[in-house]
Amino acid sequence: MSETTTTKPAPFGTVFGSNLPIARFDSDGWGAMEVVPTDSVTFGVATHCLHYGSECFEGLKAHKQQDGSVKAFRADKNNARLRASAERLCLPVPPMELLEEMVEAAVQSNVEVVPDPPGSLYLRPNLVGTDLNIGAATKPTKTAALYIIASPVGEYLPPHMLRIVVEPDIPRTTPQFGKVKCGSNYAMALGVIQNARRDFNADQVLFAPGGLIEETGAANFLLLEEGRVITAPLSDSFLHGVTRDSLLQLARSLDWKVEERAVSVEELVQWCARPTAEAALAGTAAILGGVGTMIVNGEDIQVGNGETGPATKQLRGMLTEIQTGKRSFDFQ
Ligand SMILES: Cc1ncc(COP(=O)(O)O)c(C=O)c1O
Repeated sequence: MSETTTTKPAPFGTVFGSNLPIARFDSDGWGAMEVVPTDSVTFGVATHCLHYGSECFEGLKAHKQQDGSVKAFRADKNNARLRASAERLCLPVPPMELLEEMVEAAVQSNVEVVPDPPGSLYLRPNLVGTDLNIGAATKPTKTAALYIIASPVGEYLPPHMLRIVVEPDIPRTTPQFGKVKCGSNYAMALGVIQNARRDFNADQVLFAPGGLIEETGAANFLLLEEGRVITAPLSDSFLHGVTRDSLLQLARSLDWKVEERAVSVEELVQWCARPTAEAALAGTAAILGGVGTMIVNGEDIQVGNGETGPATKQLRGMLTEIQTGKRSFDFQ
């Protein structure tokens, strides 16, 4: 009798391509990029980024197209965001051309491990301060490394409708670093997210400092119904998601009403009571993940009928078709 074994896919972000584009910055400026084995790069224990947070990163995906080629989705937006993060963190700002060259090298040197859709190659550019100096608490690093990790991925979100706790007081991070993509922002949010998991069996936290909704721990947040999307207006205090921007452009192209405006927790609660209400997390990893329950002041509140609604399905479907070359769209 033959035995059948089912292999569980590896968790998102735990498998890596073999090849790593890397470039270094020193007193001569940025050196040329080279592609090295992913497991060949090591950093000393005194490295600046490990002590003083001189680190920022990006997350984008490359998708297999219908003709078999592989294309990174809107990499220009991620490259620009990395440069803005670097500037805010007093790190050397990598030139745009270097970032473009490295994204392309990350894709092409790992092309053989790109999964078929709905899988993709997740790319993680990482810029780190590399001075070996534990006495530089108030000084920027003078040297840095920029590299891009490639990781073949499948689904990021769990298969169930999401449960999201609303945090009305504590911000995810400080307002001055909200739109920076740096590791310390995630560390600051982690305790709140862990408490929500423990106390409410929640998947994530929606941060709403001052009672106005902003974003979750690793994605932007949208309210939707057919013909309409509502989301917080861009500000310095949360991450300007490429997915958020893409979905809003798609919604506008469909002549949907797109409202970028402040939404209070009270309005969110009223919204959830509408039978047509939808809510979703928007991010590169999540794409657009339906929220079934918001937990406000410790109470479960069902969003609409608790299922993934038609607006969420339509925008998600359009976006994934564009990413895989089944549909064209000219993002601005
Ligand atoms: C805190 C946070 N907000 C929003 C996003 C969504 O950004 P993007 O759509 O560019 O992935 C992410 C994902 O990286 C995130 O970590």
